[in-house]
Amino acid sequence: MHDQVLILDFGSQYTQLIARRIREQGVYCEIHPCTRQAPLPGSAAPELRGIVLSGGPSSVYDSDAPPFDAAWLEQGVPVLGICYGMQLLTQHNGGMVRGASHREYGHAEIEKVGDDVLLDGIPMRSPVWMSHADSVAALPDGFTTVARSPNCPIAAFSNPELRQWGIQFHPEVTHTRDGVRLLRNFIFGICHARADWSMGGFVDEQVARIREQVGETGEVICALSGGVDSSVAAAILHRAIGKRLHCIFVDNGLLRKGERESVRAEFQDFDLTVIDATERFLTALDGVTDPEQKRKIIGAQFIRVFEIESRRFENASWLAQGTLYPDVIESVSFKGPSATIKSHHNVGGLPPDMKLKLIEPLRELFKDEVRVLGKTLGLSDVRVWRQPFPGPGLAVRCLGPITPERLSVLREADAIVDEEIRAAGLYRDIWQSFAVLLPVRSVGVMGDNRTYEETCAIRAVHSQDGMTASVANLPMELLTRMSSRIINSVRGINRVVYDLSSKPPGTIEWE
Ligand code: XMP
Repeated sequence: MHDQVLILDFGSQYTQLIARRIREQGVYCEIHPCTRQAPLPGSAAPELRGIVLSGGPSSVYDSDAPPFDAAWLEQGVPVLGICYGMQLLTQHNGGMVRGASHREYGHAEIEKVGDDVLLDGIPMRSPVWMSHADSVAALPDGFTTVARSPNCPIAAFSNPELRQWGIQFHPEVTHTRDGVRLLRNFIFGICHARADWSMGGFVDEQVARIREQVGETGEVICALSGGVDSSVAAAILHRAIGKRLHCIFVDNGLLRKGERESVRAEFQDFDLTVIDATERFLTALDGVTDPEQKRKIIGAQFIRVFEIESRRFENASWLAQGTLYPDVIESVSFKGPSATIKSHHNVGGLPPDMKLKLIEPLRELFKDEVRVLGKTLGLSDVRVWRQPFPGPGLAVRCLGPITPERLSVLREADAIVDEEIRAAGLYRDIWQSFAVLLPVRSVGVMGDNRTYEETCAIRAVHSQDGMTASVANLPMELLTRMSSRIINSVRGINRVVYDLSSKPPGTIEWE
């Protein structure tokens, strides 16, 4: 059992970030909805070392303020309230929260008052990130102010006797310069948690767990897409059960240049079945231009192929999936659906009636931990840093009819974009970068000849999770280099444009 910090989520957009920051310090941390009931006072699990009450969009005075079981404050472990969490502590202990006349959003500077262990080692003045409307107007009895800012006279407070601390600012965002130091002070200086959470340790534990779960002879099937999640899931399963893991990689003819070969090379020691289903998919897509239609066809074909192939492994009773922690966290939905919108895309949808039990070795991990785990397991940098790639593949980037010829044009243009982004050292900073082929023909001139060919759009976006995205501000020089390479070397494209749409209102993919 790992020492653990528990976060109760009141709906802040930063809640996952708090958990990641704490895990980065080597302390295991879980997020639970604020609606979760507390154990009886003093009877929390022995591994519980501390509790964080997150921020959130509510006011403690809202008639529909999120429910909170005050017995969480009586577990005998330290509590840190952040933003809304601090206001909740204030209200609970008899202090006063005041609705601000204006929201405070952005940079501020706090000044320490006195000497509290929470702010140990942090300079007298320190930049922080504020994002709140309400604030603490009067301290509860027994609490003292330990930091203030010009707009927020009680920016942090403490009551060491009750073992409660509160801060109005957000230590989890990088704008709060000493935020990590503050979180370390809480988890180590106050909670005395052990830093026993590491991906090296995770491998050993998870391998043992998988062996126990599937038993001495159990066999597992894995739909390997080549993406980070399914690759790392396969890698840890392989470490645990070797050739009793059967990976199936379906080449649907809609992959990027070199993808099939690269997967084959990376997983050469695995029991890997590579299916070339190009013809089946392209035949089914013949003449189809409607985006939804394309997706449906691809999803259905994938299921069919996977079903047929997996039947060969008649002893397998498990199906591996690369589900990650963000998909598992119960979202705080009492404030409407916004917090619960989730990307529902996975490998392409698996047979709904497959009689296989699910095994999800990554369901406790955040994406950045999955990458570290992948490296620990010996996967290549190319694999663990791979940008997301949609299940329907190039089909949703090849607008209009999908033909082998147009796919090949797109693949070549896309390879140039990929190569240039990597060469510029931007690949890891960018969420996704790729080429799109548009069925728009325009006139050009090449040498002495008139051309009449299609258009390539370059797309590059920054994003945290694919739910929103902003256009990557690529240097003009890089864009023009891509453009001239594409136009000069890819037959079938004579014009290149750059997509300047953010999401929303655009989407990342074009279809
Ligand atoms: P959109 O285009 O909706 O994409 O802004 C958001 C993110 O999801 C990816 N995406 C998919 N991934 N199957 C997938 O596995 C799909 O059908 C699918 N459609 C979009 C997209 O690449 C982006 O990262």
